[in-house]
Amino acid sequence: MTPIDLSRARADTPGVRNVLHFNNAGAALMPRPVLDAVRDYVAREGELGGYETAKENWDRVEHAYDALARLLGAAREEIAVVENATRAWDMLFYSFKFGPDDRILTCETEYASNYLAYLQVARNTGCTVEAVPSDESGAVSVDALRERIDGRVKLIAVSHVPTNGGLVNPAAEIGAVAREAGVPFLLDACQSAGQMALDVDAIGCDMLTATSRKYLRGPRGVGFLYVRQGLIEALEPPFVDLHAAEWTGPDEYRIRADARRFETWECNWAGKVGLAVAVDYALDWGLDAIEARVTALAGRLRGALSSIPDVTLRDLGTHRCGIVSFTVNRHDPAAIQQAMADQAINIGLSPANFTLLDMDRRGLGSVARASVHYYNSEAEVDRFAAAIESLSLAR
Ligand SMILES: Cc1ncc(COP(=O)(O)O)c(C=O)c1O
Repeated sequence: MTPIDLSRARADTPGVRNVLHFNNAGAALMPRPVLDAVRDYVAREGELGGYETAKENWDRVEHAYDALARLLGAAREEIAVVENATRAWDMLFYSFKFGPDDRILTCETEYASNYLAYLQVARNTGCTVEAVPSDESGAVSVDALRERIDGRVKLIAVSHVPTNGGLVNPAAEIGAVAREAGVPFLLDACQSAGQMALDVDAIGCDMLTATSRKYLRGPRGVGFLYVRQGLIEALEPPFVDLHAAEWTGPDEYRIRADARRFETWECNWAGKVGLAVAVDYALDWGLDAIEARVTALAGRLRGALSSIPDVTLRDLGTHRCGIVSFTVNRHDPAAIQQAMADQAINIGLSPANFTLLDMDRRGLGSVARASVHYYNSEAEVDRFAAAIESLSLAR
């Protein structure tokens, strides 16, 4: 593993000259090759026409599937590129036909959009949704999951890294339980893709969804999914168009055999090209090297914040990633975010109802979220901690 060359990473990231960016779990700063690819593609559309540019750049667009397949240890036929992680997840989830006897098992730190879909489907079909209790560290309890398995469990779906903190759920252990039980496993890797290696076979997930704009450092408005070959044809998408299916006769249609059945014909072409470049770029650095640096920086940040008397770290779990969540006594997280923005420091905010079950359980309103990436520097971590310390001293 070659360690990250910080000077090169920063030289490649124009945004670091303007802002101290700790909002990588929101949308990371794009590196220059991604920015160039997206800009050049859109410029070419202006010069040549949209359809003509797609034709001219066909290989670069198609490369998105090869790059994503490599990122996930999948085959290109198992990949679809869509608008965002939520739609990627929805297209898979709403393909399942649930009934009143079916059970869905998820986690307490599940993302709101996913949980809203469970609630809607439960209301419409009578199926049951159960959040598997967490263990004492706050991660999904694999033992509790195992105990809940029976012949009625139709789907296991969890967030790998929740939106509101640094917890990394034990995806491979969950995958092992799912495999043993023969239950499909859908992993929401929206916050983990790009900050750690993801291999769908090693994890044992049948489906995975993620976005371009977060730790992968790609453009906004693009998401993607993986679905295991053997499952594709069993999942009929909730929507089809002339790209997902073929109109074969006045009363007939045939859905395509690969994962692109979950796509639509019209899409964000420049975004797809940008995503392909972003994935190649991440693979060039190496996901293990990225994870090592992200984890070390986050550890430094947690150490610095925890020495400030009024700060409470809010990250769950023992296996943690680049997201650092915290609160500061007497300071509303939204006000903390604004105070940082006033100093050109970007952080995120996780409102309670983005992960309602977990936040209610812990009695939390909202939390401030500082998420580091490998291109952030140790000096930025120290400057940020000093800014939070001065804020905490201000009454
Ligand atoms: C865990 C998790 N899942 C899903 C999503 C949704 O992603 P998108 O906004 O691309 O739809 C997010 C967004 O923050 C998230 O944190």
